[in-house]
Parts: sequence; C-alpha cells; structure tokens
Amino acid sequence: MKNILILGGDGFCGWPTALHFSNLGHNVSIIDNLSRRKIDVELGVESLTPISSIETRLETWERISGKQIPFYYLDLSIEYDRLLTIIKKNKFDVIIHFAEQRAAPYSMKNSHSKRYTVSNNINATHNILCAIVESGLDIHLIHLGSMGVYGYGTANMEIPEGYLDVCFGEASSTVTKEILYPPSPGSIYHMTKTQDAQMFAYYSQNDNLRITDLHQGIVWGTITAETKLHENLINRFDYDGDYGTVLNRFLMQSAIGHPLTVHGTGLQTRAFIHITDTLKCFEIAINNPPRKGDKVKIFNQMTETFRVRDLANIISEQTESEVLYMPNPRKEDSENDLYVSNKCFLDLGLNPTLISTEVFPEITEIASKYSSRCNKKYILAKSYWSDIERQNANNETY
Ligand SMILES: NC(=O)c1ccc[n+]([C@@H]2O[C@H](COP(=O)([O-])OP(=O)(O)OC[C@H]3O[C@@H](n4cnc5c(N)ncnc54)[C@H](O)[C@@H]3O)[C@@H](O)[C@H]2O)c1
Repeated sequence: MKNILILGGDGFCGWPTALHFSNLGHNVSIIDNLSRRKIDVELGVESLTPISSIETRLETWERISGKQIPFYYLDLSIEYDRLLTIIKKNKFDVIIHFAEQRAAPYSMKNSHSKRYTVSNNINATHNILCAIVESGLDIHLIHLGSMGVYGYGTANMEIPEGYLDVCFGEASSTVTKEILYPPSPGSIYHMTKTQDAQMFAYYSQNDNLRITDLHQGIVWGTITAETKLHENLINRFDYDGDYGTVLNRFLMQSAIGHPLTVHGTGLQTRAFIHITDTLKCFEIAINNPPRKGDKVKIFNQMTETFRVRDLANIISEQTESEVLYMPNPRKEDSENDLYVSNKCFLDLGLNPTLISTEVFPEITEIASKYSSRCNKKYILAKSYWSDIERQNANNETY
C-alpha cells in the first residue's frame, strides 16, 4: 500500500481519484486551495451537480468507508515552506498533480485570467519539483498534462507518446536524436502545460526525479464507483462555456432541450477518455514508475478520437436535439485529423470504455436530475482567443 498525495484533490479528476485510491486501501492525503470553487463564484456559475463542501465530502467518506483522508488547504503556487513540511512529514511515495487552472477558454478570457493561469500553473509545478528535491525523498511524481501540448493541427503522422526521433544533417553525416515532440500550444493554458514538460525534463535529468507525465484527452462522464455511494460524494459537472467540456456539454444540452452548440465547422478532431478509465490509467502509472535516472515517462492518456460534428450528430440522432453551428471563439484550424498512439496504456492492460450510446444514459440521467440548477445564460462560450473571433461572434445573432 502506498502513501499518496493528491494535489488538486477537490477537483473534477482529483476527487474521484482520491476516493478510488483510498478505497483500494492506500493512505491518501489531499492538498487543494479550493480555487476552482472560487472561480465558480467569480464567473457566477456552479457545477450542475450540487457538490458538497470538502469537509462534508471527507466526513461522509470516513463514515461510509472508515477511511480518513487528511486535507490541507494550501496554495501550491505560493506556500512553498508549508508544502515542503507536509511532504517531509508524511514521506509520500507518490504525488499526483492535478492542481492547475485547467480551462483553455478561462485562460484566454482577459489579461487577469492569462496572468493568473501562468503564475498559478507554472509556480505550482515548479514548487512541487523543488520541494521533492529538497525533501530528499524518492517520490514518484505523476502529472496531468494535456493532449493539447501537441497542438490541434494535422500532424500527418501518428502522434507518438511524448518523444520523436529526428534525423538531421547531410546525407553522409546524419545525426539522429530523440527530442520532446515539438509543442504547439493553442491557448495560454496549453502553453503552461508545455512549460511543465520542460521543467519535468530538466528535473528528471538534473536531479534524477522519477516523473510520469500523462498527456490526457478530454475527460467525459462524471460518475465513478465511489462517487455514487452517497449524494455528498457527487463529482462536479461543469457545463458552462469556460469549464464545460464538449461531450459532457452536448449530453447536458440534450437533457435540458438546448441545441447542441458546435463551434466552427465541427470538423475539429479531439481525443477523449472516460473518467473511469482515467482512474485505471493512474493505477497503471503508479505500478509502472520510471526508474531513477530514466527520462520522463510520457503516456498519451486517451482512448479514442472523434470529430466534434460527429459527436453532436450521434447525440442528436438519439435525442432529436437540434445542432447549432456557431462562430468558433478559438483561433484554430477549421479542420484537423488526429492520430494518436496510446500503445503504452493498452500494452499495460487498459481496456477502454468507448464512446457509445450505451454509456450516455448515465450522464444524461445526472444532467436531467439536476437540470433545474442549470443557468442557461452561461451555456454559450464567451471567451474569445482574439478580437477577430469576438468580432465574428458579434456579427452573428442567435
Ligand atoms: N478535465 C479534463 O477533461 C482534463 C483533460 C486533460 C487534462 N486535464 C488536466 O487534469 C488536471 C485536473 O483537471 P480537472 O478537470 O480535475 O480540473 P479542476 O479545476 O476540476 O481541478 C483542479 C483542482 O486543483 C485545485 N488547484 C488549482 N490551483 C491550485 C493551487 N495553486 N494550489 C492548490 N490547489 C490548486 C483547484 O482548486 C481544483 O480543485 C488539470 O491539470 C488539467 O489540466 C483535465
């Protein structure tokens, strides 16, 4: 059994992960500064599901499972000394790092949200790396990166798991080198993820830290075996234009009779993974750490790709929802192909839950149950990548 620290353990991925590993018998602790809940207040929105306070969540879990999860209210981007003390005292084996501002649209909203995203994400990641080194402990750090670090253009090749062999020079004297796949961030948020990757490469090389970086696709679904044990354990469900992700948004929109909102042509291809598969991936990552001195282990944590338009059509056919094409608030290719290798997780035993109409009812049921909590005013995306996209949107009426 391992001693596991979950950074960002109150969030959409972190909370089910904390419960899952606690249920498996590991000693789990959480650090979170509840900034995600504060951003809800700032934006005037709430999770579609009525999430309990972190205190109620943890008390309920202890009552149901008999297991305690210590919680530290701490801002990782500024409270370095407290972080170091907690790490030294608890001698963690594994730290899973979810604690970043994770919405691309929010990161593009205005100068405040851009600057906040950069200082929060980069300082948090660097403080964690620095604290692991200073603690002198042999901790395996697992970070949640994003598929978006590869960019959303067409690569004309299968995107490998983090590294690329490149060959350069004259025909007579070519040099082959393995490099990090060239980053191509499409937002300030994704830019912070590409910076994270550089910091991981540095600390793994300079300090022999054992690091796994999971380049995760868009997570869909919301319920896990543990979160459904009690209403107080319910996971968050973001539906608003900044934090809601595409498939969950479509399912919520169909449940409340709102048109399915597709940005641009809908020919953009994205990578997806179901929330229960993310938990399996973390288990696999924990059980297969890099050795000391190894380069950063990078896995593509996704199970399939879909064009946005095709997803909307699948749901529309099933529910007779209207599909509404809207100007794209993002600056991105109007169309792209995406072929991604996910061999590492498949070889290590991941058996994917694929997107199919059979698994939609569970999500639609949740969305219908709490539909009265939906504020329709917040459904449409209103964060624009630049004035051009803002102008395009203003020229259209709905
Ligand atoms: N949700 C997805 O579809 C998805 C897809 C790809 C990658 N990811 C990555 O997975 C991670 C978790 O995503 P999520 O959807 O759970 O996000 P989330 O916003 O729901 O959770 C992040 C948690 O971290 C906390 N946090 C943020 N900054 C902090 C700080 N400085 N100190 C302490 N706590 C802090 C927040 O309060 C929140 O509870 C993120 O890094 C994200 O980039 C998520």
